[in-house]
Amino acid sequence: MRLGINIDHVATIREARGGIEPDPVTAAHIAELAGAEAIVCHLREDRRHINDRDVRLLRETIKTRLDLEMAATEEIISIALEIIPELVTLVPERRQELTTESGLDLIGNKKTIHSAIQRFHKKDIAVSLFLDPVDEYIRLAHEIEADYIEIHTGEYANARTYPEAEEHLDRIRHVAELARSLDLGVNAGHGLNYTNIKPIAQIPEVEEVSIGHAVISRAVFTGLERAVRDMAELVQRYSQQNESIVPEN
Ligand code: PXP
Repeated sequence: MRLGINIDHVATIREARGGIEPDPVTAAHIAELAGAEAIVCHLREDRRHINDRDVRLLRETIKTRLDLEMAATEEIISIALEIIPELVTLVPERRQELTTESGLDLIGNKKTIHSAIQRFHKKDIAVSLFLDPVDEYIRLAHEIEADYIEIHTGEYANARTYPEAEEHLDRIRHVAELARSLDLGVNAGHGLNYTNIKPIAQIPEVEEVSIGHAVISRAVFTGLERAVRDMAELVQRYSQQNESIVPEN
């Protein structure tokens, strides 16, 4: 199973100040050095985190695979057709949402999604559909020639009891099998973390998991001590000096 790392949250922190750091492109390179086998980012219509520059630079500089999450809107489709990611993952998008809340409504948007898939296929771009674990959606994904499905694991991740989690897992396992039997590739993601990843990693049909929030959250804590030490050292060192701020040549 491959690990795809979603770097949107790094861009969210950058946008909190509207500056240039932290750069999600640097985050992608570090993720790759650490073993990520795909870099995932969501170019939203409102550009609230990842922007056009990020996607272009990621395309030029990452060494693994680029999985571009996007809504099937004309503007973003045109960008994706130009960028040519290894995988496009179509997701629903609502302006007010904090994160992608549910899978695609394939019944209501079958024509639009099918036409987007056909356009991507003309450029040899594989397409994944982010879907709730519902049989009908998986069959429709096959019918409209998707290459992959990404199973929405959010409800499993939010389950409050073991029996509830087990019920969601059964659904996920079932649709993973169904998708494979229809020759669809299977990815999974949303809400996966260090404690709930185990049973998902044990599903043989799942090729790739896409994880963002849990990894960036942990990075805050695993990296915080070092970051504070570095700054404390600078404050200590500089407070004992009285030099000009102009660098010497
Ligand atoms: N997969 C999809 C389609 C998503 O929209 C997201 C969130 O951006 C993820 C996976 C990753 O979810 P999380 O940040 O909870 O790990």
